Amino acid sequence: MKILGIESSCDETAAALLEVKRGRFVLRSNVVASQVKIHAKTGGVVPEGAARNHILKIVPVIEKALGGVKPDVIAVTAGPGLVTSLLVGVETARTLAYLWKKPLVSVNHIEGHIIANWMEHSDIAFPALALVVSGGHTELNHMKSHGKYRLLGATRDDAAGEAFDKAAKIMGLGYPGGPEISRWAQKGRPGVFHLPRPMIDSGDDAFSFSGLKTAVLYLVERMKKEKKFTKKAIADICAEFESAVTDVLVAKTIRAAGRERVRSIVLGGGVVANRQLRAALGEAVTRTLPGVSYYYPSLGYCTDNAVMIALAGYFRAEKKLFTPWEKLSADPNWTLYGKTSA
Ligand code: KG4
Ligand code: ZN
Repeated sequence: MKILGIESSCDETAAALLEVKRGRFVLRSNVVASQVKIHAKTGGVVPEGAARNHILKIVPVIEKALGGVKPDVIAVTAGPGLVTSLLVGVETARTLAYLWKKPLVSVNHIEGHIIANWMEHSDIAFPALALVVSGGHTELNHMKSHGKYRLLGATRDDAAGEAFDKAAKIMGLGYPGGPEISRWAQKGRPGVFHLPRPMIDSGDDAFSFSGLKTAVLYLVERMKKEKKFTKKAIADICAEFESAVTDVLVAKTIRAAGRERVRSIVLGGGVVANRQLRAALGEAVTRTLPGVSYYYPSLGYCTDNAVMIALAGYFRAEKKLFTPWEKLSADPNWTLYGKTSA
């Protein structure tokens, strides 16, 4: 089965062709047209600009991914995300499905981030705990099996990636903020400044990162007033910020995994590209949860891509979870549980 994956939920226009041969995944192509340079000018994603760029890029990106091959199934991100961005991918997928008379699978972007782990590990044991940390989401999901999710907790305000992006903006660093802060943090030391670890002891699986961002704002304002906002101070603030986010994510993930007695922990989303988070969580799992396996996708599969959409599409196609092209619509608030688009 050859699956074309299409992703346009935020600021990356992506397409991938995945072939599944007797249960083995063979990646034929993986094309990502990033809008990062465009959004760097505004310090964040402007939805209208993102949609315009998706329109310019979607056909060439799909053509490049297909290289003349006609897929058997078309899988597209239908939500969650920016509605104007989602619509470009969804309408293109519907058109192709109609023209080629091919089945269409609607994929949840969050599920895509989780399923990215299966690209390189086919033997992940269930039940699993999935931590999704991206620019738009921070959530812990219990995963009983493919397609069976239960939300344990999510952020009440900003997502972890959003906090990285906003904190970077406050410090005058580039966009996206995650990789920038991470780079600066390598030159600094945590603990020189103190930032809060929001909700670390709340006892539930919810998160909150907006207070952390505000704490950075006050700290930077104070440092500027005292004329102490030097490069060293920026590096130390970045190191402390990265540690604060990591501490919260590690503590809450470990607690939830122990309580839910899961056999695996899987990570997904752009923030998982953060090396400190991957390493700290790995250490904590080894130390406190012997017998629990720990997985994260390789770097290119953490940030938005269409391979994860093709793969999640394959698992749905296997169960014949197709959506007729007439019925498929973008759903910017689609959650993994409850209401589904398909
Ligand atoms: O999953 P993603 O590509 O898009 C969404 O679905 O939101 O995640 C993008 C987010 C951005 O907020 C970006 O700053 C963050 O992932 N990010 C990182 C790193 N690389 C990307 N955050 C922390 N450390 C990184 N190395
Ligand atoms: Zn994403």
